[in-house]
Amino acid sequence: MTDKNTKKQLPGLLGFLIKFFQISLYIPIQIIFIPFAIIGLIVAIYKEMGKSKKLGISFSAIKALQYRWFMHYFDTRPDPLSVAFTKKFSCESHFGMWLVMGALIISQRLFGFTTKLGKLVEPGEETVDSTAGIRVLTFDKIMVKYVDEIDQIVLPGAGFDLISLHFTKGKDVKVFELDQANTLNLKVETLKKAGIKHDWITYIPVDYASESWVDKLLEAGFDKTKKTLFLWQSVSLYLEDDIVKDTLREIADLCVDGSIIAQDFYSKVFASGEYSKAAKKFLSIIEKMGEPSKFGIDMSNDPKAAVESFLKDCGLKMTEYIQFGKKLDIEPFYCIVEAKKL
Ligand SMILES: C[S@@+](CC[C@H](N)C(=O)[O-])C[C@H]1O[C@@H](n2cnc3c(N)ncnc32)[C@H](O)[C@@H]1O
Repeated sequence: MTDKNTKKQLPGLLGFLIKFFQISLYIPIQIIFIPFAIIGLIVAIYKEMGKSKKLGISFSAIKALQYRWFMHYFDTRPDPLSVAFTKKFSCESHFGMWLVMGALIISQRLFGFTTKLGKLVEPGEETVDSTAGIRVLTFDKIMVKYVDEIDQIVLPGAGFDLISLHFTKGKDVKVFELDQANTLNLKVETLKKAGIKHDWITYIPVDYASESWVDKLLEAGFDKTKKTLFLWQSVSLYLEDDIVKDTLREIADLCVDGSIIAQDFYSKVFASGEYSKAAKKFLSIIEKMGEPSKFGIDMSNDPKAAVESFLKDCGLKMTEYIQFGKKLDIEPFYCIVEAKKL
């Protein structure tokens, strides 16, 4: 998984001429695709929104899977597993997404026409729009960094992320994935349909809001004496404050020396939808699908200190801090951190 699409823009007239040439080729291709794109959009929306609502599946998890599909086809992160999964997934349409995105994908492949979806920004230059891709790559790097030195990996709120399948196959590590029953059961069903081997992973259906995820984890064979990586990606945003704190305190209790927790945080302003129009639009769609954003940290003053102090309250010591958009003159909105038990 590479950052190969993180490129500097070609300067001046040459860059302009190349872009002009690319757009001139792209427009007719897109026009041909329009009727197909409309059909694709209808099919994809029916599956993502209609079917998922009927089945009680996490829409935010579907969107995260969809982004990984984009990354695969726009060549920013190869992910054949997510593609194979999507093909058999009842709440997304691989075919529909191809019809919607086909003109862009073909244009990128044939003559290098790239849009935001086909580019990665430099670290520290992330905006809300460019966060999704860098987030995925950052968690990949964390996984690679620790996978050979820990004994267990726990993903509370794994959704349809296949990161553990990707990085732990054939490794001597136990993996536990937790999520709400409907979402997790559909994940396992889809993995089977897609013929994706997953027998070394233990899937634990649980709702943090009403059940003890720790009891379920221990019942499933989690060993409290072993070094563990907890990967909590894009979940806290959707939980009540007290559930986020309780979960982190429980994670701290489960950590032995050498254990790591990696997770992300959004700012309070972002979670409230007031950060930007793009953020508001995205969050309001997710909210309409039953997942309102609830938790954020006040990052208005000193975001690093605020996150560090929040983690300390939960019994954790921050060891790494990556603030998105740090090099830009923008209000802090998101960070990825690593922590260990205090
Ligand atoms: C944005 S998705 C992220 C999924 C995955 N970590 C990823 O990066 O693709 C948020 C996930 O949190 C899960 N989640 C939210 N509230 C939960 C709860 N109360 N109990 C268990 N899981 C929950 C959702 O089902 C969903 O899969």
